[in-house]
Amino acid sequence: MTEPLLPLEPGKLPRHVAIIMDGNGRWAKRRGLLRVRGHVAGMESVRVVTRLARRLGISHLTLFAFSEENWQRPAMEIRVLMALMRSYLHRELSEMRDNQIALKAIGDLSQLPEAVQRDLEQTIAATAEGARMVLTLALSYGGRSEIVRAVKTLSGDIAAGLLTPEDIDAALFCRYLYTADLPDPDLLIRTSGEYRLSNFLLWQAAYTELYVTDTLWPDFREDDFLKALEVYQQRERRFGLTQEQIEAMNATQPRH
Ligand code: FPP
Repeated sequence: MTEPLLPLEPGKLPRHVAIIMDGNGRWAKRRGLLRVRGHVAGMESVRVVTRLARRLGISHLTLFAFSEENWQRPAMEIRVLMALMRSYLHRELSEMRDNQIALKAIGDLSQLPEAVQRDLEQTIAATAEGARMVLTLALSYGGRSEIVRAVKTLSGDIAAGLLTPEDIDAALFCRYLYTADLPDPDLLIRTSGEYRLSNFLLWQAAYTELYVTDTLWPDFREDDFLKALEVYQQRERRFGLTQEQIEAMNATQPRH
């Protein structure tokens, strides 16, 4: 690992990093390879970034691994992606356990092939004690569907008399999302130069810092991740407040 251009300040690292891992297909095409070879190379970036996040003490990493729109891809590509998921889960289990990484998954997991669902359940159960970092894979995930699903469940609870409409506020609504147990992302990285959210964490990214790099996901390695963290540390997060209010808060509150 090379040193960052500027030293990272441990107290200013993001608690939660989310990543839209884009550009696998283009990476392969530029090399005259099948698209799926890009996904295979992208899996190595997943390993590298997860290791570095864990080493730096980032407590939550969420990866957009398969969107609900991705079901429309060619059947062969979907098959390879599902096989890669399984191989990743098998290969990484011991490293996750050794490094106290808890695996989670968000999305409509019922759409995944049964074998993938089973492997996911087993890995999630086997790593549940992991207290140092939560690695969340977004699989068959779509932000709008997540919100619609939350509204349906919430309406059901109102119809059942468990809640009244007056009880609803943003904090309560969050509890109905897949991400109920996760903090909102502080930093969202998107590779391969597209300036879009692509239906990822629509609710949760309300105040997230966005970082877009032209680097394609299979080329995104330690230096690229460190660069994104450095840029994040130079950002001024105001959450709609004035600079003076932020300075007053920083003077009275310890940073975490
Ligand atoms: C987007 O690139 C990437 C995906 C749809 C899949 C991401 C999968 C991996 C990184 C590999 C396996 C992941 C895990 C967690 C084991 P694209 O195919 O849309 O690229 P393009 O825009 O260049 O066509």
